[in-house]
Amino acid sequence: MTTDQLKIPTAALGTWAWGDNGEPGYGYFGSGLDRADLELIADKAHAAELRLWDTAIVYGMGRAETLLGEVLKRFARSDFQLSTKFTPQAAGSGNHPVADMLEQSLARLGTDYIDLYWIHNPGSVERWTPQLIPLLQSGKVKHVGVSNHNLEEIELANKILAEAGFRIDAIQNHYSLLHRGSERAGILDYCRRQGIPFFAYMVLEQGALSGKYSPENPMPIHSDRAGTYNAILPQISALTDKLAAIGKRLGATAPEVAIAWAIAKGATPIIGVTRPHHIDGLVRASHLTLTHDDIVELEVVADVAGVSTRGWWEREMVV
Ligand SMILES: NC(=O)c1ccc[n+]([C@@H]2O[C@H](COP(=O)([O-])OP(=O)(O)OC[C@H]3O[C@@H](n4cnc5c(N)ncnc54)[C@H](OP(=O)(O)O)[C@@H]3O)[C@@H](O)[C@H]2O)c1
Repeated sequence: MTTDQLKIPTAALGTWAWGDNGEPGYGYFGSGLDRADLELIADKAHAAELRLWDTAIVYGMGRAETLLGEVLKRFARSDFQLSTKFTPQAAGSGNHPVADMLEQSLARLGTDYIDLYWIHNPGSVERWTPQLIPLLQSGKVKHVGVSNHNLEEIELANKILAEAGFRIDAIQNHYSLLHRGSERAGILDYCRRQGIPFFAYMVLEQGALSGKYSPENPMPIHSDRAGTYNAILPQISALTDKLAAIGKRLGATAPEVAIAWAIAKGATPIIGVTRPHHIDGLVRASHLTLTHDDIVELEVVADVAGVSTRGWWEREMVV
């Protein structure tokens, strides 16, 4: 059994965008990264007790992990939690691909353990899940989770781990107002019943629900995310308007309401943070109370938009 308790914050901090090379307009996000900003993000997050950082080896093929490791050097290792992933598509050809990838993450992050280690996507549940067991036994990994797995795959992974006395300690899937497949597939209910934290990624649809972008002010045109979202910005404007209207009533911004929605649904959002003010937004979002009517109205407007934001790496959760 794992011993160290996993501390679940109101929200976790995502670093996919940290894998960009920092050049404004280009890369997956094209947000432009400033090292001093990232350090300020870390300081503000630390002060706000938001101390669970999510990353992956494939975010900028090591760049995000390296940058995160450098930025977090200012804190004692016991003062933050690290969540990173084994990505089957990037597995090496050795006998122990999961252990090998973990070693690379440990080196880049400058640590000798990971608080929460994920299988990034299912590939083969039977092949990858058992390889987590020796990592848990060695203590290099304190807890394990699965990401982008459907309910059947989650149950299978849990069964494999249970045979060795372990369990899935977290689930991480795409979950936003525009993408509620995990809810419809019963995964949120399963997590509630089993007492497993459900981490929601892309709650802001990579910024499309921030209200910052519109057909007149699209996402950076050379960025990858622009290819997914710029074409649907007109269809989601009613939703961003609704988020802003609820926010106005509550003294909050549209993205803060979108984050509060995920929290109200029982999820722990992982929010990609690239600017210091994003931490202030996260803190405000965690104190917002949406009414039942707010939640229903947001979901209705989102459904009416009728767009699919399923990532190229994802499958449908409803089987
Ligand atoms: N397991 C998986 O397969 C998987 C897949 C995707 C993501 N993830 C994880 O989940 C994290 C979150 O997903 P994501 O980063 O792709 O997208 P996201 O959290 O939906 O959106 C992040 C973007 O939203 C904007 N933003 C964030 N906070 C804001 C605030 N308070 N106010 C206004 N705008 C705000 C920023 O865009 P601008 O820079 O344009 O301002 C930021 O880059 C990732 O970083 C990663 O750790 C996991």
